[in-house]
Amino acid sequence: MKKKINIAIDGYSSCGKGTLAKAMAKALGYVFIDSGAMYRAVTLYLMQNDVDVYDESAVEVALANVVVGFLNNQEGQSEVTLNGISVEAEIRNIAVASKVSEVAKIQIVRSKMVALQQAIGLEKGVVMDGRDIGTVVFPDAELKIFMTASVEVRAQRRFAELVAKGDVVTLEEISANLKHRDAVDSSRENSPLKMTSDYRVLDNSELDRDSQFALAMQWVEMACGG
Ligand code: CDP
Repeated sequence: MKKKINIAIDGYSSCGKGTLAKAMAKALGYVFIDSGAMYRAVTLYLMQNDVDVYDESAVEVALANVVVGFLNNQEGQSEVTLNGISVEAEIRNIAVASKVSEVAKIQIVRSKMVALQQAIGLEKGVVMDGRDIGTVVFPDAELKIFMTASVEVRAQRRFAELVAKGDVVTLEEISANLKHRDAVDSSRENSPLKMTSDYRVLDNSELDRDSQFALAMQWVEMACGG
């Protein structure tokens, strides 16, 4: 059997990191972890409990009551849990998206999530997507992919996703949210989204799912020494 590796997929908001990560994990028999879902779950908790996300001390106090984890649903897909209950559906809306980057800036929030992510990665065989996976969480990941796509393509994809779920949103609102999050995520002091020279870049503005999957799997082969 080929050696197991850890795969880090980082990049801008809504460029299909999760779709690629899930497909790779399935093909390889690896664990898929959506690290963004963890920051979204913390944000949901703060919103449900009326905690001001701009008040770091209040966030720190509230964080003591937050346990984030994962479960496998009946279809075998991973769902993020907040204090033991799946919140997969609740975390994907624009209300959570509008606050999550403020919450993810806070160091104590990051330390708690990163510790959990690193524990999951100890045994290898993990595909994790996020913003700081290749730089902070798994700096030694054998394969690091940096995904990007034009903001128009990304906004259109996320808009279609949310409308299909029945959410009432506008394309302008989505586009503004993506730009805002990209700016905050890239400029923050703690673990900013940053591409380093050890990433392989995947711009999928004009690549379909099958082609990006095939390309990424070639990189896996190379990283496994195949
Ligand atoms: O799915 P999408 O690309 O829109 O975002 P996500 O992966 O669900 O991440 C939501 C937010 O969580 C990001 O905009 C970041 O602010 C934060 N995040 C982070 O700071 N570090 C990570 N490793 C993953 C997400």
